[in-house]
Amino acid sequence: MSLKYEKIINQMTLEEKARMMSGKNTWETVDFPQYGIPSMTLSDGPHGLRRQAGAGDHLGLNASLPATCFPTAASVANSWDEKLGEEIGVALAEEAVTMGVNVILGPGLNIKRSPLCGRNFEYFSEDPYHAGKMAAAYIRGIQSQGIAACPKHFAANSQELRRMANDSVVDERTFRELYTTGFEIAVKEGKAKSIMSSYNEVNGIYANENSHMLQEILVDEWGFDGFVVSDWGGSNDHALGVKNGSHLEMPGTGKSGVHDIVEAVKNGNLTEEVLDQRLDELLSVIIDTHQATEEKKGTAFNVEAHHELARKVAEESVVLLKNEDNILPLRPGTKVTVIGDFAQNPRYQGAGSSLVNPAKQPEFILGEIGSSSLEMVAFEQGYRRNKKSDEKLLNQAKEAAKKAEVVLIFAGLDEISESEGLDRTHMNMPQAQNMLIDEITTVNPNVIVVLSAGSAVEMPWYSYVRGIVHGYLGGQAGASAMLNVLTGKVCPSGKLNETYPMHCEDTPVQHYYPSKERSSEYREALYVGYRYYTTVDKKVRFPFGFGLSYTTFKYSDLKIDESGVTFQIRNTGKIKGTEIAQLYVGRKSDTVFRPVRELKGFARVTLEAGESKTVHIGFDDKTFRFYDTRTDTWEIETGDYEIMVGCDAQTMLLTDKLYVAGTVKEGRYEKEKMPEYFNGQIRAIDNDTFRLLYGREIPDGSWSGEIRMNDAVCQLYYGKGILGKLFYGVLRILLKISEWQGKPNLNVLFNYNMPIRGYAKMTGGFVTMEMARALTEMANGHRIKGTAHLIKATVKRD
Ligand code: BGC
Repeated sequence: MSLKYEKIINQMTLEEKARMMSGKNTWETVDFPQYGIPSMTLSDGPHGLRRQAGAGDHLGLNASLPATCFPTAASVANSWDEKLGEEIGVALAEEAVTMGVNVILGPGLNIKRSPLCGRNFEYFSEDPYHAGKMAAAYIRGIQSQGIAACPKHFAANSQELRRMANDSVVDERTFRELYTTGFEIAVKEGKAKSIMSSYNEVNGIYANENSHMLQEILVDEWGFDGFVVSDWGGSNDHALGVKNGSHLEMPGTGKSGVHDIVEAVKNGNLTEEVLDQRLDELLSVIIDTHQATEEKKGTAFNVEAHHELARKVAEESVVLLKNEDNILPLRPGTKVTVIGDFAQNPRYQGAGSSLVNPAKQPEFILGEIGSSSLEMVAFEQGYRRNKKSDEKLLNQAKEAAKKAEVVLIFAGLDEISESEGLDRTHMNMPQAQNMLIDEITTVNPNVIVVLSAGSAVEMPWYSYVRGIVHGYLGGQAGASAMLNVLTGKVCPSGKLNETYPMHCEDTPVQHYYPSKERSSEYREALYVGYRYYTTVDKKVRFPFGFGLSYTTFKYSDLKIDESGVTFQIRNTGKIKGTEIAQLYVGRKSDTVFRPVRELKGFARVTLEAGESKTVHIGFDDKTFRFYDTRTDTWEIETGDYEIMVGCDAQTMLLTDKLYVAGTVKEGRYEKEKMPEYFNGQIRAIDNDTFRLLYGREIPDGSWSGEIRMNDAVCQLYYGKGILGKLFYGVLRILLKISEWQGKPNLNVLFNYNMPIRGYAKMTGGFVTMEMARALTEMANGHRIKGTAHLIKATVKRD
């Protein structure tokens, strides 16, 4: 195989090649000026750059250079606007190059398997098609500026608890249809130049070492020609990773990474030919992206223009969830009382590696309301973040609420409720806020709740309030964007990227998520989010794809041909507005189980009052396909398909049938043997049924009591070693303190969920694998043996 950088590679020694495959430090790759190889900088940035100028860490702990804080992915996904995604991508890259960043570590597009995942705010959708399209748009935008995007985390990485020590046990069909289709779109349509493998194992093999994922799917099927980087500290057996399709181990592991590769080549576990090929692929991106950063590094980006863009994005992302008697928009001069700590101290982004140091002071409602057409008669804090209900604050808020025509309550999830590194245990908003909303509705009938949260919440007060507007996490210009929607300057058009169940207990993964064992079994298979609720006809608070407008739309005249669907949408209201129409496809089959409908396309249509437009949504290679595990390929079942156009996943407005001549007559599943997968009642799948779907033995995920190197630190509790238990205890106390303080402690969370092996991967060579092995022995109660090994390994470390 010919190499693009053969000349350079031929000059390099084996050790030099090995050095290239591991970072120089937390964010940069090794450089070899003598060969013309510059260093490449990678930096987080799914909704804004987090380029650390000084000491690097990957948890958002140390300050980063100021950058525009755009709304997070969960917010932007509500816009369903690919063009907007591209614009954000361009802006992110414009900022990145000024900071010398060659690779933006984003977008994140893991599937929202459960509303409880603490990182949902960073992800686009519960649907892979939607997530993939948005991700591809960001990637196109980012890469148009000469640098690389890095979609993450590939794949089946939907749980934060023990995120680095978890085996996702998922059947191949579900894996393909749900958990990798988004990445497929990101790679094929976005042409991503890099991809980040996830921390977890997939069916017993680390994603970063998984040749099925990294070679067969990513390269052979999707034609990926960029480089794969491990998630930070996620590399396990580095040489095996490189052999199986991974390239770069980050952060750098000092000499150990080099040693692993050199040894593997010497003992024949990794051929130098494969190493050269990986190096060539890595060099291609390093060299290709170098020029863009070289030219622009140190220049300034347009802070004001990007702030404006952040506002536009936030405006498009707002979702109007309830508007009883058209209480919204508020007419000019409306006397409002503003209640809620979020109005003075906004919740505008999430916590963790995506944390942005905003280029402009983030807006907040109290700071912006004076420039709006509203007349604020009073403000009250109402609740203290993360604290029990405070009677005094509550009473003050009630008094203030009586003074106004309309009460705006700013509420949602506080910082500790959702974060990288933790999963929620329930879907409630803090009790103090729920109580406040309830109480305020008893003194003023015109209550509008304005939400900030990166994920779905329960709304026990739904029936008592007249309006609900959701801004998700709206970025640094979120406050003025929200006021523009409340006052009607902007007609809301956002639609939810996820279902809002009535209760957390209703979720399809209620019994499977988060897994507390070694493995996380995806027994619900395809029935995630709306795929489940619509199939079993379960009442939800708001369906996927739902959002109201200040105007109304009428759909008509569905026509279907081989290329796709065509229909009319008319704006039947009095103002200009934008509708997001959604195409769903379903098919009843006795041999291929499916949800009643799945999203296969969407269109954003802006219409003047009274205007009509013809809308076309094309079919593509994903419209009718299913993954056939008999042939290990995508097939199309021959037969009738139901074609549905709706305004959300539950409301189908135009439907018809289409006969499709497929590639196979039928599928492989026997309905009588797995009725649950055919009727969607998947909440209590037994071992036999799951085994049938999985197609092999279900791995034993239960704890044996023996701690392994790849077990998370939070499992030290089960070990026999007293020191391990002590360390676990200290972390628990620190977590409790951070809960009490209301701010996630990312360092502690990271350690808590990290395998012992992680210490050898995250300390730049300070802790070696041998030392980690010794620590594992100690965790298992072999104190003397472990200490002796630890001393020996420490002495040996060079
Ligand atoms: C996160 C990634 C992030 C990386 C670098 C990891 O802990 O999972 O999303 O890009 O850190 O900060």
